[in-house]
Amino acid sequence: MKLSDREYMETVKVELLKKVDNSYRITIGKGLFPQIVKYIADSNYGKVAVITDTNVSKLYGKKLLSILKAKKVPAELFSFRAGEASKTREVKAKIEDALTLKGFKRDCVVIALGGGVVGDLAGFVASTYMRGVPFIQIPTTLLAMVDSSTGGKTGIDTAYGKNLIGAFYQPETVFIDVELLKSLDRKEMLNGIIEMVKHGIIADKKYFLFMRDNIDRIYKLEEKILIKAIKRSCQIKKEVVEKDEKEKNIRKMLNLGHTIGHAIEKASGYKFSHGISVGMGLVVETKIAERLNMISSIESQRIIDLLTKLDIKIKFSDVDIRDIVKNTLFDKKNTAGKTNYVLPLKVGKVAIDVSVKEKIIFEVLQQST
Ligand code: GLY
Repeated sequence: MKLSDREYMETVKVELLKKVDNSYRITIGKGLFPQIVKYIADSNYGKVAVITDTNVSKLYGKKLLSILKAKKVPAELFSFRAGEASKTREVKAKIEDALTLKGFKRDCVVIALGGGVVGDLAGFVASTYMRGVPFIQIPTTLLAMVDSSTGGKTGIDTAYGKNLIGAFYQPETVFIDVELLKSLDRKEMLNGIIEMVKHGIIADKKYFLFMRDNIDRIYKLEEKILIKAIKRSCQIKKEVVEKDEKEKNIRKMLNLGHTIGHAIEKASGYKFSHGISVGMGLVVETKIAERLNMISSIESQRIIDLLTKLDIKIKFSDVDIRDIVKNTLFDKKNTAGKTNYVLPLKVGKVAIDVSVKEKIIFEVLQQST
């Protein structure tokens, strides 16, 4: 049979079946700068780009740069104005152009030195610069140590929402130096402590109780307790990420407390801190689970008692409950018009993708005032 010109076709298959190994080590300790510099000096990187913000630059950026230079490691510091408002395309482009002008090539390494904003932005720069260069996370806040520095979420915000543009891009390694927490105030410590308590609720009752019994020692930065707790949080997070890197299913459990938490934070015009908002989100979501008979009142009380001990109190008179409910409807984790929640079943176990009616959210919020 003869084919006409229109029917004639050839195909070429590009076979890229890959087995990738993106494994990496998280080192947790105190006074790690010499070890970090040795790691970098021993690796075969070209130039080192330390990306940080204006606050961290003064506190630790210049110090890290001078130790690198003393070891003859070619390094440059790139800093941007501290704050979420810098997590934009524009700031990303500025850093990329600065890297190019300073002669950074494909063999360079990016160091993200800072909190969550720095990690997200510097990680995203690394994921696209020269089609991807390695990056190292050195988190400087407790929240970044136990959450954003592990798991490879990188990205920027747009006018339409937070983290709308980004990539899953895993770091080469993570160095968690608890010495860097010395500059943090109590409010910033609480942001991290809430996530640690959340890890306990998600996956480990023993850890939850450990956090309950050691809160004061963590605030006091008692080294061994702090390192032990951070390690447990990183283990819980890494177990989830190993099973579901791209958040198709179980990684969603890390969002416990965040659907209501983000909605409260936004309704307050970002007056309430992330920690307080997510803490209150944990309280409200626990009450929703109790209302739906998904958790016993004893277990629910156990969670609420710890959050109360942490001084998680929000004056609901400062926010409009209707705004909170409205914000939950725009949560980016929603699918097909449904507001999906992660809800606790007991301390150490949660359910994901629970669809909850707006009316119930409203009622529970009203009872929480
Ligand atoms: N912060 C939640 C996650 O990394 O999935």
